[in-house]
Amino acid sequence: MERIIIKTPDSISAIMVGARWEAVTRLLPESGVVIITDKNVFNLYGKSFPDFPVIKIEPGEESKKLRVIETLAAKLLKLGIDRSGFILAVGGGVVCDVAGFLASVYLRGIRCGYVSTTLLSQVDASTGGKNGVNLDRIKNVIGNFKQPEFVICDTTMLRTLSDEEYLSGMAELIKTGIIGDASIIEILEKNYAKVILRDRKLLSELVARSVKFKASVVAKDEKESGLRRILNFGHTFGHAIELHEAFKHGYAVASGMELATLFSYNKGLIDRKVCNRVINLMKKYNLLNSYNISSDTIGELILHDKKKSGDNIHFVFIEGIGTPEIRKVPAGELIGFYKKFKKE
Ligand code: GLY
Repeated sequence: MERIIIKTPDSISAIMVGARWEAVTRLLPESGVVIITDKNVFNLYGKSFPDFPVIKIEPGEESKKLRVIETLAAKLLKLGIDRSGFILAVGGGVVCDVAGFLASVYLRGIRCGYVSTTLLSQVDASTGGKNGVNLDRIKNVIGNFKQPEFVICDTTMLRTLSDEEYLSGMAELIKTGIIGDASIIEILEKNYAKVILRDRKLLSELVARSVKFKASVVAKDEKESGLRRILNFGHTFGHAIELHEAFKHGYAVASGMELATLFSYNKGLIDRKVCNRVINLMKKYNLLNSYNISSDTIGELILHDKKKSGDNIHFVFIEGIGTPEIRKVPAGELIGFYKKFKKE
């Protein structure tokens, strides 16, 4: 088991990779705990949950709504949870986002910790303290930063994921390799069979590498005023694609990373070899679905995205594998590049 610490100015968060999730009981207070999960996770693991009240939300993005936060807060009040209470989230990105946000606002903030059950949340979403809900279809418009006290990443839990859900997480892992830890790319290239078979040891190593890199970024820039933006590699186009197509997050991000990689090549920041290496890896893991979005639509969707500042967008390019580069790019230039890519 690896214990990775994320230290920010006012919190310490311990991410335990390779730990058995049942060990969570030892990390909880004796009383005042409420477990928040979704129905799918409850059906798989509910029988072994620690003996505390459980609140189930609907699985999926539809639960990332302020209305859901209100309903959950009312349930906490009814259970008598006071300021000494503790929320344990057991689930993937949506459950952790919702539970973390609830913990940050309920009675002006109570303690929380997560058991992270999907690859996507283990390598990215559940670490780093971002919480939030969507406004209509625009993602994470209402949210804040609150670091959970702990996150358990038990890679044996990844065995129950559908192939689509598992590979969606693979895209965020590839992202970390591209922007930070190049050894992740090498491992994914050389160990395809083991990765597809969800080898526990190998996955624990990959998740730990990803968390370590993210921890180093979040420790330097928790509130995303600069460096943390690199974690959005592929997300500018990715969020737009996700809004338009019924893709799981990781697949949309993979298509966004393809565009960001080609844009980097187009600008002369990387050579053809690097460009092909990145795109071939995503093809190998079957992450690049086809989509049909016009440049006008992609422009509108990007400008709706919260990362817009004026008409300039902080866009994450790469100068090589492991070397991200943030540049402010006029929206028109992004759309012009996309037009060329789509040969419109
Ligand atoms: N998922 C990007 C971040 O945590 O900043």
